[in-house]
Amino acid sequence: MLWPVTGSSFGPRRLGASGIAVSALGVGTNRWGAQGVPESQLEATFSTSLDCGVVLFDSAEVYAAGRSERILGRCSRNDPRPVVLASKFAPYPTRVRAAQLDRALEATLKRMARASIDLYYLHFPYSLVRIEAWMDRMAVAVESGKIRAVGVSNCNAAQMRRARDALGRRGLPLAANQVQYSLLHRKPERNGVLAACRELDVALVAYQPLGRGLLGARLAPTSGAAARRNAAVLDALELIAHERGVTPSQVALNWLLCQDEMLIAIPGATSAAHAAENAGALAWRLSGQELDRLDVASANIR
Ligand SMILES: NC(=O)c1ccc[n+]([C@@H]2O[C@H](COP(=O)([O-])OP(=O)(O)OC[C@H]3O[C@@H](n4cnc5c(N)ncnc54)[C@H](OP(=O)(O)O)[C@@H]3O)[C@@H](O)[C@H]2O)c1
Repeated sequence: MLWPVTGSSFGPRRLGASGIAVSALGVGTNRWGAQGVPESQLEATFSTSLDCGVVLFDSAEVYAAGRSERILGRCSRNDPRPVVLASKFAPYPTRVRAAQLDRALEATLKRMARASIDLYYLHFPYSLVRIEAWMDRMAVAVESGKIRAVGVSNCNAAQMRRARDALGRRGLPLAANQVQYSLLHRKPERNGVLAACRELDVALVAYQPLGRGLLGARLAPTSGAAARRNAAVLDALELIAHERGVTPSQVALNWLLCQDEMLIAIPGATSAAHAAENAGALAWRLSGQELDRLDVASANIR
């Protein structure tokens, strides 16, 4: 089933001040290349996403040992409509010189079989090399035309500022900070990351927006405090979804997009059906009263 996406309530959103606009939803590809997921299914996921106006695809060199990037590159060659491709550099402990980023980027471009990609992230800030040095190499990659924009991931507000300042010295903006954010994980609201994104004009790209699938699935009742907290959210999602004739996943994604214009969510999907369902979250908007109900239901989520 194709969900209605015409008359979208959530139009394109900016990747900070990079000049790049993307659909408010993207597709996470960390399971692309995993065992048991045929490539033909991923090609259908890719093309269906584009049919639905979802153009941002999120990969990383570490996803399925590079297979995610390879498959994404092949999908994009087979269906050459415009897309925005993102990948990530992992600053492993063995990567002790900033110049090692250049080789990793070359390998990513080779796997994707492209001369350049749109957005390249520092995957996480824990590294022997300072963020400033990684950002300098990112700037070199922008200047050489290999990437269009620079992002960071899993950075707190202070680390974001350091990345922003280092790029600023090279005349470049920080386009995005990709962090975990969902109705089951609301930390960016409390740790200053969402506020810093607003202040610094940096997109907040929300990963695991479906709580790794939990927000889209009704599970057998479980015991324990965390399960009870989650159950309150799942119940509220189900009720609102039922009232509106949409699905719980769509409500969860819609809630995220309502949080801020800076928000972009990248639900992982390996099927065309999930990609189309998720894109169906773009066509309408939760009311203030529904947002309040979800806030109450997730009040005890840490
Ligand atoms: N920067 C980082 O450190 C970091 C960390 C984790 C993830 N990420 C990125 O964020 C993306 C999303 O995170 P994630 O994939 O871990 O978690 P997620 O998006 O919260 O959930 C993905 C799971 O939900 C399922 N799903 C998707 N759409 C659904 C729907 N409409 N109804 C029911 N289930 C649905 C998927 O199943 P199918 O596969 O069957 O479609 C998959 O099992 C990743 O793919 C990756 O690109 C980044």
